[in-house]
Amino acid sequence: MSPAETQAAARTSTEPPLKIGSRTMPSRYFLAPLAGYTHLAFRTALRELGGLGLATTDLVQATMLLSGRPKSMELIATTPADRPLSVQIFSGRPEEVVRAAKWLEDAGYEGVDINMGCPMAKVNGQGGGARLMCDTSGATSLVAGVVNAVQIPVTVKMRLGWDADNLTAPALARAFEQEGVAAITIHGRTRQQGFHGSVDLEGIAATVDAVDSIPVVGNGDVRTIEDAQHMRRVTGCAAIAIGRGAMLDPWLFRKLEDVVERGEEPREPAAEEQIDFLVRHFTLMTEQHGDYSCTLFRKFAGWYGARLGIPEDLEDRLRRFTSIEEFHAIVEQIRERHGERTTTIATALVKVPNGPVERW
Ligand SMILES: Cc1cc2nc3c(=O)[nH]c(=O)nc-3n(C[C@H](O)[C@H](O)[C@H](O)COP(=O)(O)O)c2cc1C
Repeated sequence: MSPAETQAAARTSTEPPLKIGSRTMPSRYFLAPLAGYTHLAFRTALRELGGLGLATTDLVQATMLLSGRPKSMELIATTPADRPLSVQIFSGRPEEVVRAAKWLEDAGYEGVDINMGCPMAKVNGQGGGARLMCDTSGATSLVAGVVNAVQIPVTVKMRLGWDADNLTAPALARAFEQEGVAAITIHGRTRQQGFHGSVDLEGIAATVDAVDSIPVVGNGDVRTIEDAQHMRRVTGCAAIAIGRGAMLDPWLFRKLEDVVERGEEPREPAAEEQIDFLVRHFTLMTEQHGDYSCTLFRKFAGWYGARLGIPEDLEDRLRRFTSIEEFHAIVEQIRERHGERTTTIATALVKVPNGPVERW
């Protein structure tokens, strides 16, 4: 049995395993795409901890993918253990999205996700990401084009709408289902909100109500077991996608599996396991990226520091290290001084005013 099948077989929950198109999910707790973070190394390290269902790559620009850009190839790098996986693509040019989906299917990928949620100007400016939510018929024909071009399940990730006056997600979800989309992931904010304000669970529920039978995956601000259970209860969503919460607590998927699937107490990782995870993630990264991993890994420091018991001064060094040897030297000090922290809040969550410090 593959690890995913073993995971599915160990379930005691009365809830049947979730299917997305032809694919059976080993868990209802998914990894949301986080550009710059959800690379192969992070996905693999998380899967090894247990409890993770579907993972999705960072968003990949369709044209770049089709032209075989090395950066795009890095983003779609995967292994047999990295399953189930969907590749997320975007472009404002529908024909490119269709061709990219076909390319992915021909290359053996088992799922494709279309990005309709990205709020970034460079993505929206090309007519991609959340901008697509403003054009119901254009978005629907793009989705239909992709669904008709491939056999693998096609999913869509979107927000509630462009702004509070244009909450198009329910209508779009219904239209996409009719075109044959296998699932919808819905981040409970509008494009206008960016990452501000709170997630609107009623908005997610409205999308759940709008579809007939495809799974709707709820997303946004899930950081704890309770958050996940609350979102499922209030919205009726079939699954949850967790993004930043996975960096703040990489064991969240395993703990959800313990509690929801097995009806047991959540297992908290001991200090040694926490440090082993840090080393494992970095080592996996070096296998793909070599010395460049030092640069790629540094931005995880602010997310991991609090959860992994890394003293603030060592977290600061992890934010600046420049060699693989230096990483391991810092880890040795973390082993000796694990838990010597004054704050339990992740640095990545500490809000600072905008602009230069003298103008705060
Ligand atoms: C740094 C960062 C990168 C992101 N990159 C993507 C992306 O590539 N594709 C996408 O659909 N959403 C992306 N998102 C949005 C997340 O997938 C998710 O919808 C959002 O962060 C809310 O979920 P969370 O609170 O669990 O993180 C990104 C979010 C962040 C913070």
